[in-house]
Amino acid sequence: MRRLLFAANWKMHLGPAEARAYLKTFRTRYRRHDDRAVWFFPPAVSLEAAAEAVREREDLLAGAQDIHWEAKGAFTGAVSAPLAAQAGAKATLVGHSERRQLFGETDEDTRKKTAAALAASLVPVLCVGETLAEREAGHTLPVVKRQLAAALGGVEGGALRRVIIAYEPVWAIGTGRNATPQDAALVHREIRAWLAAHGAGETRVVYGGSVSLKNIAELLAEPELDGVLVGGASLNPESWAELVQTAAG
Ligand code: PGA
Repeated sequence: MRRLLFAANWKMHLGPAEARAYLKTFRTRYRRHDDRAVWFFPPAVSLEAAAEAVREREDLLAGAQDIHWEAKGAFTGAVSAPLAAQAGAKATLVGHSERRQLFGETDEDTRKKTAAALAASLVPVLCVGETLAEREAGHTLPVVKRQLAAALGGVEGGALRRVIIAYEPVWAIGTGRNATPQDAALVHREIRAWLAAHGAGETRVVYGGSVSLKNIAELLAEPELDGVLVGGASLNPESWAELVQTAAG
């Protein structure tokens, strides 16, 4: 059975009390479906509250938006993978385009963070995707493959199957302009081919970038998509529940 992943990236929204209230509403609005899982990525301060609020639901899970690659030490402001795990995280985003663009995160950083996540038994959700300039220059596939190779080149097949790839074209994030299902599928196929060549053809590949109630059914009708990573449209628990509920499955 295809088990779809619906990942909610709350970015810099929803403190601990707000996260608890959100998840209370979400849990009552969204009844479990065996063919889908819903993961929440709250800000670090809300991680423990979110993890606690989903603890009794096997289909729901909380994860970190970012981790540092070191396990501990003098890194003011940073959260390590073991610390996120202590707060209840089961997964972490790695290399989100906002981290890359606004915080100067490099390909090498994504390699170290992916390794740190795997070492702490967190599922890394590695975000890859091209900018508008890269797309217009025809560089989409080389950019995505460079990002994959940099972050995952040294990860062996068994561990690679635990990773999730989120293809998020930068020009589609927060812009209201999503990739068409065909655009996304083309890149997903290339990502899958890269993974298969590294012994992990079953690794899940999800799409992100302006996913909404309006386009979710059309996007998930494309079998190349194993789910979605959603920012803006995940911030309201009622409409997010509706989005997960009504999506084709
Ligand atoms: P968006 O964000 O759904 O608001 O475009 C997606 C993301 O950044 O993961």
